Order: sequence, then C-alpha cells, then structure tokens
Amino acid sequence: AIDIAKLRAETGLVTYDGGFVNTAACKSAITFIDGEEGILRYRGYPIEQLAEQGSFLETSYLLIYGELPTPAQLDDFREEITKHTLLHEDVKRFYDGFPRDAHPMAMLSSVVSALSTFYQDSHDPFDERQVHISTIRLLAKLPTIAAYAYKKSVGQALLYPDNSLDYVQNFLRLAFAVPSEEYKADPVVVSALDKLLILHADHEQNCSTSTVRMVGSSHANLFASVSAGISALWGPLHGGANQSVLEMLDGIKADGGNVDAFVNKVKNKEDGVRLMGFGHRVYKNHDPRATIIKKAADDVLSRLGKRDELLDIALRLEEVALSDDYFVSRKLYPNVDFYTGLIYRAMGFPTSMFTVLFALGRLPGWIAHWREMIADPSSKIGRPRQVYTGTPIRDYVPIGAR
Ligand code: ACO
Repeated sequence: AIDIAKLRAETGLVTYDGGFVNTAACKSAITFIDGEEGILRYRGYPIEQLAEQGSFLETSYLLIYGELPTPAQLDDFREEITKHTLLHEDVKRFYDGFPRDAHPMAMLSSVVSALSTFYQDSHDPFDERQVHISTIRLLAKLPTIAAYAYKKSVGQALLYPDNSLDYVQNFLRLAFAVPSEEYKADPVVVSALDKLLILHADHEQNCSTSTVRMVGSSHANLFASVSAGISALWGPLHGGANQSVLEMLDGIKADGGNVDAFVNKVKNKEDGVRLMGFGHRVYKNHDPRATIIKKAADDVLSRLGKRDELLDIALRLEEVALSDDYFVSRKLYPNVDFYTGLIYRAMGFPTSMFTVLFALGRLPGWIAHWREMIADPSSKIGRPRQVYTGTPIRDYVPIGAR
C-alpha cells in the first residue's frame, strides 16, 4: 500500500478516490475480507464456523475484545448485559411523542442519540470505565429500543425485558408478546435470528462503520457515534437494501411474477431500477454470508411451514441474473440482504423493521471499530480533502448592482 500521508508531505499531492473505492482510511485487526475469493473472517475465525457453532453474544465479545470468551467470561458478559436491558421511564416517553407511522430506523437513531443525555458518564472516550459501561448499555438496550419501535408502530404496550431469557429470546418477547397472553419464542426462530445477527455483526469499513469511525474520530462519544452509524445504515444502498428487496419482490409479484420483464428493466436501467440485494463493493465472486443465508431461508421457511411465493420469485430472479451477461460481466451476485427479508417476514416482522434487525446485528462491529480507533494513539480526525470544481476568484457585486 502507498503511504499517502508521506507522499503528500513530499509532493503536495491530493488523491481523488470518489466513494473511497481504493482508499484504506485506517488499519484494523477486527475483520478480514477477501472479495475476490469470497472470504470473511472475524478476528481470524471463518464466518461459516461462527455462524454454525457460535452464538451472537460470544461473537460480540470476540469482535469487541479480540478473543473468544471462556465460559466464565461469557457468563459475566451476559450477566452484565442483562442488568442493563431496561430503559429509563423518561426514555420510554420518547415513543409517546413519535408519530405512529414513524420509521423505526428514525426512532432507533433518535433514542440511541438521546442515551448520551441520560448517561452523562459516557462523554469521555478516553475513560476506560465510561467506555466499558457505554458498551454494555448499548448492547443491552438496543434490543429494547428496537422492540419498542415495533410496539409503537402496532400500537401495543411496551413490555419490561425478561432477564431470565437469553439475548434473542428476550428481544423476540419484547417485540411479539402481549401482556395478557403467554409467549414463548419458537426455537427455530430464535436460532435463525441468532445466526442472522452473527452474519451481520461486522463487515470492516462499510458505510455505517466508516461513519461511526468518522464521527468518533472527533472524539464524540459512543452513543453519538453509533446513532450516526444507524442513520448511515438506513439508506437503501446499504442496510436499507433488505427492505428494498422485499418491496421489489412484492412489486414483481403484483406485476404477475414476470421475472424476465423485471430483469430487462434493470438491464435497460429504466428509471434507475437496480436489482436490489445484488452487487457489492467488495465481493466480486460471491458473498459468503448470502450462501449461508440462502440455506437458512430455505430451512426456516419450510420448518415454519411458511413456504413463501416471494421465495420462488427470488430463486428465479437469482437464476436468471446469474446466467445473464449483464450481471456476470459486472460481477453482480446476491449479497447478504437478498434472502434475509424473506426470513424476517416469516418471523412476523414488517418490512420497515428489517433494517432495524440489521442494526442489532451490526452493533458489536460498530462498537469494536470505535474502540479500536479510540485506543489507537496514531488515529487522527477523519478529514478528507476535495477537488474544488467551483468558480475561480471573482469580485463581490453589491446587491443593488446585481
Ligand atoms: N442492479 C443492477 N445493476 C447494478 C447493480 C444492481 N444491484 N449494482 C451495480 N450495478 C451496475 C451499475 O449500474 C454499474 O453498471 P455500469 O457500469 O453499466 O454503469 C456497475 O454495476 C457498477 O456499479 P456501481 O454502482 O459502480 O458499484 P458500487 O460498487 O459502487 O455499488 C452497491 C455497490 C451499492 C452495493 C450496488 O451494487 C447496489 O446498488 N446494489 C443494490 C443495493 C444493495 O443490495 N445494497 C446492499 C449492499 S450489501 C450491504 O450493505 C449489507
């Protein structure tokens, strides 16, 4: 790699790399991706092994602290998180103020940002105790915040967390239980959601993680930085793609299921239509997460007895696209979000919640990157340069003479 800082000092050179396609903004020891080979590893562990054998909480521990926890470390971690799942009653009042049809991602970023008003002991990024408690609070409270956003949208009462349950079970109960009825999350759903969270837990310098690092590089606190990351994730070209995929599949179904007509529209770039859930900035062969999720989608939908017509459309779409030169020549393959929406839908979540589920998964990655940057004495404030294309110097004209 070229050391741009050195080159700039020696030559005054500014590099232009729109979209940072080929610019490393930091050094990181968290996640390894080989886009050509379709490899993804967290702290050296292959994603396939973590998804198959690990749990989301131990993956979170691994990303944040660098090693897999021992049984005692995992117990302590779990217990500490469990103690912080409640939201302050005043935070809960935010939900009264939001319009009922508010997008849950907007609620999520607002409430996470508001955590820095409730926890004044979170503002110093160099105080290890503050960083520790903010890490725990975020991991503990995000599922509660997310479930309340859903409850608000369906007009149901906000429940208290049940700390006898594990992380995912507790979240599902907060989202789907109603006070008058017994609720037990389906084990198939629990295990599938745990796996999906693992698969989303980190992906090195993606748009939202880069945002978390950029905001944190000014030494803004962890809550403020993660709130910005949630906003970045919301966009349809990033985490919002899972919602867009389902809307696209619904649209194709409404048009009589004509996959070929839709693919032609994409190829002709009509109205800028893209095949959502396809393509990736880094993976140019296959997205290893998509391979795992495709299998999970099939398993979950058949085990829940929710064979979905949209799955058939998705499978057909994939088949057509993968044998079409437009997609092959541009190295466009299904990404992580092509199938996730179908699983979330089978679990009972509305499309507007899909990106919120992605945020729950990505949280440990954001935290790990923020902490890695803060702990690195050589890290600098993120401040890109530009290539100025505006008018050259000209003289001010008084308003009466314009
Ligand atoms: N459908 C149709 N054509 C596409 C698609 C797509 N999904 N993605 C890229 N292309 C085409 C572009 O039109 C372009 O073609 P051209 O050279 O003829 O103009 C070429 O492929 C390269 O596209 P770029 O936009 O330059 O690729 P980039 O690496 O910048 O974009 C991105 C990556 C944003 C993921 C893009 O593939 C996309 O928009 N995909 C759909 C949205 C999506 O699924 N996002 C989720 C990403 S994964 C995640 O965030 C978890």
